[in-house]
Amino acid sequence: MSEAGRRLALCRPADVGAGKAIRIERGGLTLAVFNLDGEFHVTDDACTHGPGSLSEGCIIGDVVECDFHNGAFNIRTGEVVTPPCMVPLKTYRTVVDGDGFVSIEF
Ligand code: FES
Repeated sequence: MSEAGRRLALCRPADVGAGKAIRIERGGLTLAVFNLDGEFHVTDDACTHGPGSLSEGCIIGDVVECDFHNGAFNIRTGEVVTPPCMVPLKTYRTVVDGDGFVSIEF
């Protein structure tokens, strides 16, 4: 499979409660898997501002607030919602694959 078509299985849908997030280390990446009302989204876990882990942040709707300095990102798009964060968060195309895993494609 080419690099462009790579898929990485992360977890089962039931592993992430609604309105929650978990951290997954896989394939050299440290990721946050979010469950927004049954819709899964994956971002880098590391806050772009500093040492915050976004899977431990506060989720309000489709926004995650970092618990270090209260910067916030849109979970769907990665865009900065609240400073001091300035750099958008990397997001990944996320699917529930045919084997029932929450997976990213990149
Ligand atoms: S480390 Fe996340 S807002 Fe500063």
